[in-house]
Amino acid sequence: MSAKKSQNPDVLPQHIAIIMDGNGRWARANGRIRHAGHRAGVKATRNIVEAAAERGVKALTLFAFSSENWNRPREEVTSLMRLFLEVLQREVDALDKNNIQVKFVGARNELPERLQKHLAAAEKKTATNTGMQLILAVAYGGRWDILQSVKAVATKVEQQQLKAADIDENAIASNLSLAGMAPPDLLIRTGGEHRVSNFLLWDIAYSELYFTDTLWPDFCDQDLDLAIDFFRSRERRFGRTGEQVRVSADG
Ligand code: FPP
Repeated sequence: MSAKKSQNPDVLPQHIAIIMDGNGRWARANGRIRHAGHRAGVKATRNIVEAAAERGVKALTLFAFSSENWNRPREEVTSLMRLFLEVLQREVDALDKNNIQVKFVGARNELPERLQKHLAAAEKKTATNTGMQLILAVAYGGRWDILQSVKAVATKVEQQQLKAADIDENAIASNLSLAGMAPPDLLIRTGGEHRVSNFLLWDIAYSELYFTDTLWPDFCDQDLDLAIDFFRSRERRFGRTGEQVRVSADG
């Protein structure tokens, strides 16, 4: 995709979120089993984490396993859990050395206990790192996220710490998984589908959406740069008129 004239040639999306889709189709196209597609997906992930950090992206949020992915065949779920554990054990030192802070979001109590322990250990090890934040969404769903936030807010109301009439957007946002972070500027989805599949529903209200047919295992540095070029070509209005935005940018 060739980008339109750049509106903001120097602006970098501070926070990029990615729906990494297409591992299975990549495997089929290459005559391999699905698991080989996921392994190739891990390689692409490693490369894109490095590429995003090199470009100065502040936060990268990756959809690794959705609430709905539990419905996949049992063998695929088991092999994915094993793969996550293996990758975590293998990569955590490298992430730490690169000053990357790792965080996991999702219903982690649904994950195998051994994996839960390693997630917590990786978060602890990298907690004070000051480089790029890497957020991995595992057993995550946007509706789950909103629901758990609403429950937390309802509990405050029940305990009379908050009045129902005082519930505002901030009350919901501050209990979401990405609380305290700037929301994604850019959401990328690979693999050709044009939908958000229950990822970060609240947080992507004003994200620029970029869809590419490239399958996740084939997504490389140049593809990331195309997505960033696309972002630079967009005029972000946040509900205002184009004229208003241009006047405030000039002033
Ligand atoms: C999407 O392809 C991939 C997944 C749902 C699996 C998880 C992602 C990886 C293994 C990449 C690495 C991630 C980490 C955090 C190490 P798909 O299986 O939906 O592909 P299809 O739509 O072509 O079947």
